[in-house]
Amino acid sequence: MIETTLLMIKPDAVQRGLIGKIISRIEEKGLKIIGLKMEILTDSTIEQLYDIHLKKSFFPILKAFIMSGPIVALAIQGPNAVKVVRKLCGATNSPEAEPGTIRGDLGLHLTKNIVHSSDQPDRAKYELGILFKENELQSYTQINEKWIM
Ligand code: CMP
Repeated sequence: MIETTLLMIKPDAVQRGLIGKIISRIEEKGLKIIGLKMEILTDSTIEQLYDIHLKKSFFPILKAFIMSGPIVALAIQGPNAVKVVRKLCGATNSPEAEPGTIRGDLGLHLTKNIVHSSDQPDRAKYELGILFKENELQSYTQINEKWIM
């Protein structure tokens, strides 16, 4: 099933110069980037994006961190993209993430954990709708698709 999901490169990774490395992993896997932007998220955008964590004790720490600098948002498409991108990211708590995953290879922190990705197709739709307008997502065929999908 072809799905579209959100990957957000968090401010720690942007500051550490890891944008290219993370995007390469997505491209090398064979997934297609159909939207991409850099942005400093506002209070209200973060509250919408992380609505399920609003009442958690760590939310103020999470919000301050996400607002601390620009993020890069990617809309990523491919077969089972939601699950595949989650697997590429690795466990939320970076020290527990397997080597070979983005967090396992690049991070050491629970909050500053390099990336966020949607955990379910319906969440992906919701989260993409917060960060991208319809006309910011591109529909196109990559020349290598027949070798990948
Ligand atoms: P993410 O996948 O973006 O989803 C929610 C984020 O909250 C998570 O990655 C971490 O950055 C952060 N987070 C989750 N649990 C905690 C916690 N216990 N303390 C601080 N930050 C957390």
